[in-house]
Amino acid sequence: MSSDLSRFGVTMERMLLHQLDEVVRERGSTRSAVLSDLARAEVVRTLVQKPVQAVGTLTIVYDHHVRDVTERLTEMQHELGDKVHSTMHVHLDADRCLEVIVVRGRADALRAAADRLIATRGVLHGTLELFAEQRAENGRARGASSHTHAEPHSHPIPRKPRKKR
Ligand code: NI
Repeated sequence: MSSDLSRFGVTMERMLLHQLDEVVRERGSTRSAVLSDLARAEVVRTLVQKPVQAVGTLTIVYDHHVRDVTERLTEMQHELGDKVHSTMHVHLDADRCLEVIVVRGRADALRAAADRLIATRGVLHGTLELFAEQRAENGRARGASSHTHAEPHSHPIPRKPRKKR
C-alpha cells in the first residue's frame, strides 16, 4: 500500500453494503475505488456550496410562447455581465427552447443567479452544474470537477487547446 493511502473501517447497513457491492461488480471496480469516487464527489459538492471561484453550465428548457420569457432571460443574462461566458441556444421544437449557459464566478453568486433564471415563468427545466476552479487536495481531481476521472470521458467545458510541440 502506497504511503499516501490510509486504511479505515466502515460500518454500514448490510443491505446498503449489498447494494454497493452490486455497483462495484457492475463497474468491475473495488469497494475502495467506488467509495473514493463518492468521497471525492462529495468533497467537491461541499466545496461549491462555499463562495469559491467556479465554472459551470446552467441548462434551461423554456417555452418561448410564455409572455416576455425570452426578454426576461436575456435581460437577466446581461445583468450578470462577465459571469456569463457564453450561451448556446437550440430551438427544440415549435414551443420549446434549450439554452446552455456557461457561467464563471463565485459559486454562491452563480447559484443565486441560476435560481432566479430557473424560477422565471416559462422555464420548464433547469440544472446547474458547477466545478470549483480550485484543485481538490487530491492532485488526481484536476480542476476539482464533480465527476471522477476513473474512465475516459468528454468535458462539458471547453478546455484551452494544448500547445503544439
Ligand atoms: Ni428557440
